[in-house]
Amino acid sequence: MKYLALSLLAATAAVATADDAQKAKLMETGKTTFMTCSACHGPDAKGMAIPPDMKMAPSLVDSKIVVGEPAAFALAVLKGIQKDPTNTKIIGMMAPLEASLDDEKLAAVMTYLRNSFDHNASVVTPEDAKKFREQFKDIKAPVTRAQLEEAGKKK
Ligand code: HEC
Repeated sequence: MKYLALSLLAATAAVATADDAQKAKLMETGKTTFMTCSACHGPDAKGMAIPPDMKMAPSLVDSKIVVGEPAAFALAVLKGIQKDPTNTKIIGMMAPLEASLDDEKLAAVMTYLRNSFDHNASVVTPEDAKKFREQFKDIKAPVTRAQLEEAGKKK
């Protein structure tokens, strides 16, 4: 019995280490990949300011999409978002990035944003990223906010 308990403990520890290592790797790749985003979202992710009172893009620090259901976050990044014409303070455009991010980089940048800037949300693996790409493959244009909301509902 004692041996069984010990080997169970050892197995759990091994799994935890593998997860930690995967997360560390994703965080590292994600930090670099975030440079693709920071041109608009800013190095501090609060949105690159355009003085006097405009921004290239909204803050990702207080974004519910970033820390919510990963499907909605993936959808926004893969397909881009239709520009909201009523928001005149945001001058940039969230373009589709599916062609410039492979599954590893998509997972990494999502994991990085979900676990930086005081966020503490679950890891997104390259397998998840692959699944989202497959799930949304028929969407050929930037999505609406309503589509993001739908994708963000817990399945
Ligand atoms: C060319 C500028 C630009 C780049 C590059 C860019 N974004 Fe965006 N992003 C925007 C704009 C503008 C919006 C707001 C879209 C709207 O509502 O009109 C946005 C919105 C978002 C949103 C929705 C936020 C919310 O809560 O409403 C997420 C998530 C997001 N971007 C993630 C990313 C990630 C991750 C990257 C890098 C992989 C990235 N963006 C790169 C301009 C950009």
